[in-house]
Amino acid sequence: FPLRLHNTFGIAASADAYLPVRSAADLHALIANPFLADLPRLVLGGGSNIVLRGDFHGLVLHSCSRGIAIVGETASHTLVRAAAGESWHALVLWTLAHQLGGLENLSLIPGSVGAAPIQNIGAYGVEMESCFHSLTAFDLQDGTLFTLDRAGCAFGYRDSIFKHDLRDRAVILDVTFALPRNWTPELRYAELANELAQSGDGTPPNMRQVSDAVIAIRRRKLPDPAVIGNAGSFFKNPLVTRAQRDALLIAHPALVSHDQPDRSAKLAAGWLIDQCGWKGRALGAAGVYEKQALVLVNLGGAKGEDVLRLAQAIQQDVLQKFGVTLEPEPIFV
Ligand code: EPU
Repeated sequence: FPLRLHNTFGIAASADAYLPVRSAADLHALIANPFLADLPRLVLGGGSNIVLRGDFHGLVLHSCSRGIAIVGETASHTLVRAAAGESWHALVLWTLAHQLGGLENLSLIPGSVGAAPIQNIGAYGVEMESCFHSLTAFDLQDGTLFTLDRAGCAFGYRDSIFKHDLRDRAVILDVTFALPRNWTPELRYAELANELAQSGDGTPPNMRQVSDAVIAIRRRKLPDPAVIGNAGSFFKNPLVTRAQRDALLIAHPALVSHDQPDRSAKLAAGWLIDQCGWKGRALGAAGVYEKQALVLVNLGGAKGEDVLRLAQAIQQDVLQKFGVTLEPEPIFV
């Protein structure tokens, strides 16, 4: 089964077998089948956060379920449930069409609803966990359905239980979001506030205007995966101690960093990579995007190994120049 159109990096690779998943019944049937049940598995949503290192000798489970609905109200929130196979951005647009705010800062993020909790997608001052209520998933090990609330998902920065204890074990079927009835814009990200200040008339923006501003920034800075293969930010922004950051600031006064509530500091990986001279450079068919050094791109026909080689060269340079280890954000398969 060809996977090139199922990963946003556009890497040409194939899988031995493919199963579209529309419901829990499809997964029950899978684990009851002695031949299929023993194959290695890859759960795939929009394929926007993976790097295929080669052909996948196993079974691809592709989330294809559809549906978005309001499923309840609390005193303060509206609950919206979306099937795992829905496109993330389609969900954001659906909530805006229903006058429900909360997800607008996460506009235009590629990928599916079911993939969003896995890395707790985040952008422009908001992480998905802030609007997360619960999810339903299927346990491939024992064939049971289970639900997890926010605490159960153990969300972190680009992290959750699905990258650890539940890796390759759970298939997310649907996700429920709690969207505030009393919405106010989240504008703590300076670039977003500036964008809105330039386009607005001084009054607080509405949710549609926030979404439009996020879309405008993303279109300017990030490559459209439909045109240039990529997986968004390729590295996480590294967390260091504030003491380590302060030491780096002495040698590099322009260093970009943000204090974290837990007294660590987050460094801008894009800045570190840029300073190493990698922006716009290539190694074989893999390159560093010319407008944002944190994004690696497929220049045409890149293989997973090309991407890996480039990523390692960047990691080495950043380590040598700044003593900081960059951790990849996408999952290597
Ligand atoms: N910078 C450079 N050179 C570059 C790129 C960035 O000097 O080539 C500097 C910028 O000037 C800026 C700082 O680095 O001062 C941070 O850059 P930016 O605001 O573009 O954000 P980011 O840290 O590169 C993160 C997320 C993005 C998210 C944006 C906006 C991570 C790994 N990435 O990027 O998420 O959209 O903030 O919130 O946290 C993704 O995960 O795929 C993704 C795109």
